[in-house]
Amino acid sequence: MSTEREIPIPPEVLDCYSKYRPTPIFRVKKFEELIGTDCEIYVKDEGTTPSNNHKANSAYLIAYLCKKDKVKTLTTETTGNWGVALAKAARYFELETICFIDAESNRFRPDRKALMEKAGAKVIVVEQDDNHNDLLSLSADAAIQYTRTLKDATYIFGSVYGYFVIPQTIIGLEIKEQLQEQGKYPDIVVGSCGGGANFLGTAAVFIMDHLESAKQVEFFSAEATSCPILTQGKSGLYSIDSQGYYPMIKTYGIEGLLNDGQYIGGLGSTIIAPAVAHYHSKGIIKAKTFTPEEAQKASNLFRETEGKKVALETGYQLAAVIEKAKSNSKKIIVVNISSGRDSTYSID
Ligand SMILES: Cc1ncc(COP(=O)(O)O)c(C=O)c1O
Repeated sequence: MSTEREIPIPPEVLDCYSKYRPTPIFRVKKFEELIGTDCEIYVKDEGTTPSNNHKANSAYLIAYLCKKDKVKTLTTETTGNWGVALAKAARYFELETICFIDAESNRFRPDRKALMEKAGAKVIVVEQDDNHNDLLSLSADAAIQYTRTLKDATYIFGSVYGYFVIPQTIIGLEIKEQLQEQGKYPDIVVGSCGGGANFLGTAAVFIMDHLESAKQVEFFSAEATSCPILTQGKSGLYSIDSQGYYPMIKTYGIEGLLNDGQYIGGLGSTIIAPAVAHYHSKGIIKAKTFTPEEAQKASNLFRETEGKKVALETGYQLAAVIEKAKSNSKKIIVVNISSGRDSTYSID
């Protein structure tokens, strides 16, 4: 909820970050060639964090703050990736974690439960019920109900809210410095939105520049056809849970996922970070939906050219990168792929 322009990173958390940051950035020339573009595409790789995605950046801060508040157990919902990040961070700060994963994600990402357990978490699989139209609020509600039966426990939602989004902004700050070293500055920032933390983490510093200086930057978010949170979301007051646990926030929301039978993992959030909704309503962030086939095709192209297997969520942003690279000339495009290889980094 802070309105401060900058928030110092607590030294204990900086210790964690300094073991795996800065994450690399690289230009994907072969990918550019195959697309047939004269744009330069730079990829920031948050796949090198201890959780293999951007989630670790929030997890260490959250676990640290909970430890300071004498919380003993953290509970959360996950479609797989966030639970691994929180479990690792909680273990680092000597806290217990209980992760709630929906049965569909557990089927789709069969290795995740074992990874969370290996990091010391207890994992509870939640079966679909008739009251939920999306997987994240299904597990969030189950986790909150369970948390209310525990002592010294707190439930943490893994995206959307300030405590989660703000630590991600380190990604964009690093990108800016890394590109500056090469005398470059992005023309187009691409991302995909689940709750919006990944997108804002990459884009926030450039949105600030865009608002405060003459820098003309385009911000483009990819979303899945079954979760058109930006293109069809309605402005209003929303919470991620129906248990009265989280406060209502003014943002965009959708009733539920449009059921096209496609699994979209962490992109299936029915509310979005308020800042994304705000800048979208002002026309600063643009969004477009992409089909699972387009996302898969983009992932395959990236794998063929760069040798990296990316997460399902990343495929959507790569589809958006391809679209921007084809419709522009000589622009600098940046994207955070937030996945891509087995982490070689472990900080504990
Ligand atoms: C690899 C990956 N990319 C992107 C996202 C979407 O993230 P956010 O909720 O921060 O928008 C997720 C969420 O699970 C993810 O796991």
